[in-house]
Amino acid sequence: MNFAVALKTACVLLTAWAIASGHPAAAQEASERIAPEAGHGLRADVAPPATAREFMVVSANPEASRAGLAILEKGGNAIDAMIAVQVVLGLVEPQSSGLGGGAFVVYWDQKTQKLTTLDGRETAPAEATPDLFLDAGGKPLRFFDAVIGGRSVGTPATVALLETAHRNYGKLDWASLFEPAIALAERGFEVSPRLNASIGQSAESLFGYEATRDYFLSEEAVPLPAGTVLKNPAYAATLRDIAKGGAEAFYGGEIAQAIVDTVRGAQDNPGRLSMRDMADYKIVERAPVCVTYRVYEVCGMGPPSSGALTVGQILKLVEPYDLAALGPDNAQSWRMIGDASRLAFADRGLYMADSDFVDMPKGLLNADYLRERAKLLEGAGALPQDAVKPGTPPADHALLLAPGMTPELPSTSHLSIVDGEGNVVSMTTTIENSFGSRLMVRGFLLNNELTDFSFLPERDGVPVANRVEPGKRPRSSMSPSIVFKDGKPVLAIGSPGGSQIIGYVAQAIIAHLDWGMDVAQAVAMPHLLNRFGPFEVEADTRAEAFAPALEALGYDVAVKDMNSGLHAIAISTDGLSGGADPRREGLAVGR
Ligand code: GLY
Repeated sequence: MNFAVALKTACVLLTAWAIASGHPAAAQEASERIAPEAGHGLRADVAPPATAREFMVVSANPEASRAGLAILEKGGNAIDAMIAVQVVLGLVEPQSSGLGGGAFVVYWDQKTQKLTTLDGRETAPAEATPDLFLDAGGKPLRFFDAVIGGRSVGTPATVALLETAHRNYGKLDWASLFEPAIALAERGFEVSPRLNASIGQSAESLFGYEATRDYFLSEEAVPLPAGTVLKNPAYAATLRDIAKGGAEAFYGGEIAQAIVDTVRGAQDNPGRLSMRDMADYKIVERAPVCVTYRVYEVCGMGPPSSGALTVGQILKLVEPYDLAALGPDNAQSWRMIGDASRLAFADRGLYMADSDFVDMPKGLLNADYLRERAKLLEGAGALPQDAVKPGTPPADHALLLAPGMTPELPSTSHLSIVDGEGNVVSMTTTIENSFGSRLMVRGFLLNNELTDFSFLPERDGVPVANRVEPGKRPRSSMSPSIVFKDGKPVLAIGSPGGSQIIGYVAQAIIAHLDWGMDVAQAVAMPHLLNRFGPFEVEADTRAEAFAPALEALGYDVAVKDMNSGLHAIAISTDGLSGGADPRREGLAVGR
């Protein structure tokens, strides 16, 4: 051990003693000694948040944010704006979300003072079987062999979600919400640098299908350069059909038939989606999942998402510790957040799945269970791997489950909206992998959401909760969240990023609530997170300065690109402030 590592280890142990002894002054003193050198703190040097008095939209693309703003300026509400933003995102950020995918919405309705969640998750086709992602020898398929083609396509849900949300809560005429996207699709939009880069990363698979080859690549098979003006008349025509005929125009008739034919006819890897699956698709309105965190209530999307349960567990596990006193520039804060996350992911891996199919333990957020489990964080260093096991949350039935095997790669998009009436939308939306299944129909891409199921349906005869079953919704990590204080919404937040979403959202919530960062700083802060073992540290950021201290605490560290897309709005009596993640191309706009 060299001198620097020995010194850091000594300081880490001193801090651990200070925390365990409940001596905040000592903890603070010790924490200062292990903080990275001055000037290397994690508080991001970013411009202040965008501010507004009346309403605000934050999404992953300026065209989409402006479309939402235009709807709000016309007197529309947050749900109306959400629809306009989503259909523009499906055009300008087609690799992340759209008509061929699914989404979750957490919605605060100011008039009724009601918080609700809408489950617009894709379903497995009725013909799907638990061995969907096993090869002839019973081995899990390689991820991209499963993703590309029809096999991974679940029943698209976004259009039903938009219509349900509008029917229940919308204000403006449905058809008018499609006008900005239709006009842009016909006029053409500029391919963004991010879209260009994404096409480049998936060029080979996009080349494999005529529709994606023709749309995303030039005649010379080169990814469309940034700045290319791209028109999508097929998408405009699809939107016109939905604007006129509602979700019925999507789930029955020609559009549904085109989707089903494309999925079932996919070369090499046909899927099992049918017209019956399309006709049967239903949005489910579910109770939100909430935890109290210090003086706040953090609410989000329950199963089939693991988001709110896992974010909620992380927050409850760190709650007994004084993160505010320790601060962000202290490896002990990250030890606790990281090990809380490892413990929460252990429960997630064993228990969490579509609760309409799996009898999950009822006590995953039980306060006594998590208070007891939080004691595991009292130690001096990283929890040994054999201590990171699923717990035994209170359950009203016997459980025999095996951990799943779900490769979850970063993808997806998040938007947050607050309207002039005080309604709040937090929506995370996805086609799963970048460009989904790579199948394109009538101007939009089809999801590969079924790869969010466990590829292994069982281990040694013991079933995996998140196995494929007909009609079931694959487990998600999407964590659209709304935070309340004294019963009033104070923050809307969420992110893309596969299973890293959970860590991104938990970290940004802690940064804002415990460390007093404004929303621009909270979404820009360099990432440190831990899901299954190695501590993931964001490359080329000040987070890298924490790697030696984390290694001294006993972690393996993986320095890597961490591509969040956190989009948040803070709500206070002073007005609204919005933060768009600088890692992407998003924009916060308001009035
Ligand atoms: N497909 C991303 C998620 O649902 O977590």
